[in-house]
Amino acid sequence: MSKQRLQGKVAIVTGGATGIGAEAVRIFVENGASVVIADIKDELGHNLATSLGLDKVDYRHCDVRDEKQVEETVSFTLEKYGSLEILFSNAGIAGPLSSILDFDLNEFDNTMAVNLRGAMAAIKHAARVMVARETRGSIICTTSVAGSFAGCAGHDYTASKHGLIGLVRSACSELGAKGIRVNSISPYAVATPLTCETFDMEPGEVEAAGHALANLHGITLKPTHIAQVALFLASDESAYISGHNLVVDGGFSVVNRGLPSIKN
Ligand SMILES: NC(=O)c1ccc[n+]([C@@H]2O[C@H](COP(=O)([O-])OP(=O)(O)OC[C@H]3O[C@@H](n4cnc5c(N)ncnc54)[C@H](O)[C@@H]3O)[C@@H](O)[C@H]2O)c1
Repeated sequence: MSKQRLQGKVAIVTGGATGIGAEAVRIFVENGASVVIADIKDELGHNLATSLGLDKVDYRHCDVRDEKQVEETVSFTLEKYGSLEILFSNAGIAGPLSSILDFDLNEFDNTMAVNLRGAMAAIKHAARVMVARETRGSIICTTSVAGSFAGCAGHDYTASKHGLIGLVRSACSELGAKGIRVNSISPYAVATPLTCETFDMEPGEVEAAGHALANLHGITLKPTHIAQVALFLASDESAYISGHNLVVDGGFSVVNRGLPSIKN
């Protein structure tokens, strides 16, 4: 398979300064794309862009809660690179793990503002330029296994990711007529700053906790596994895939061992 699977394409990666997003930035660039990192962790974002080469990677401060900043990031991308083929809307926060009985609704609003409204802003402005320029683009959102069932994350996070899967389907229903694909990726637990900070654990501890509940053994889920799926959905190899929620969980969400029937 050719190494340059995104040759000549231009991508925006929100939440691209760390974790899954940063890995996607590296893999997109390795595969020939020019990438604009949109994040609020300025130092990390600048360092990543510099390390990969400022001729093909830029960092823009972009808080996805602020539509204007999202619009400006899209405009910057067009001015610098002349097109936009890929949006990887990946920025997200975990929110608190509070009981619903005393949940702080300001925290709820903030999680929704980043995880759902922020994705809406990114899809809106990326799709506007794709439609105007008749670009058969690919839009990918990072949802979560918590977008399909409850009990593995906070109430706000679970609601935001359920909403995001709905938004992906809704955007797919409008943008298909313009030749634009919209998909999502739902990862299982990955050791990133998000999970380490939420659970106050070292990466090894997050991975051990993930292993303890995992269905698929003999492998540790890493940011690169999710980034490779983003590469597939961004590339022409997934040319007829739209409206799909690609679950990357080793089977975790389709297995329930509540009534064990097979000993293993
Ligand atoms: N790590 C996991 O186990 C896991 C599982 C399922 C889904 N996800 C999702 O993956 C995505 C990436 O998370 P990650 O695990 O790589 O964590 P991460 O914390 O390493 O990355 C998230 C990035 O989003 C950025 N961000 C946060 N708020 C922002 C804002 N307002 N505007 C712009 N950028 C902002 C952060 O600065 C950070 O760089 C998130 O959407 C998360 O919900 C993660």
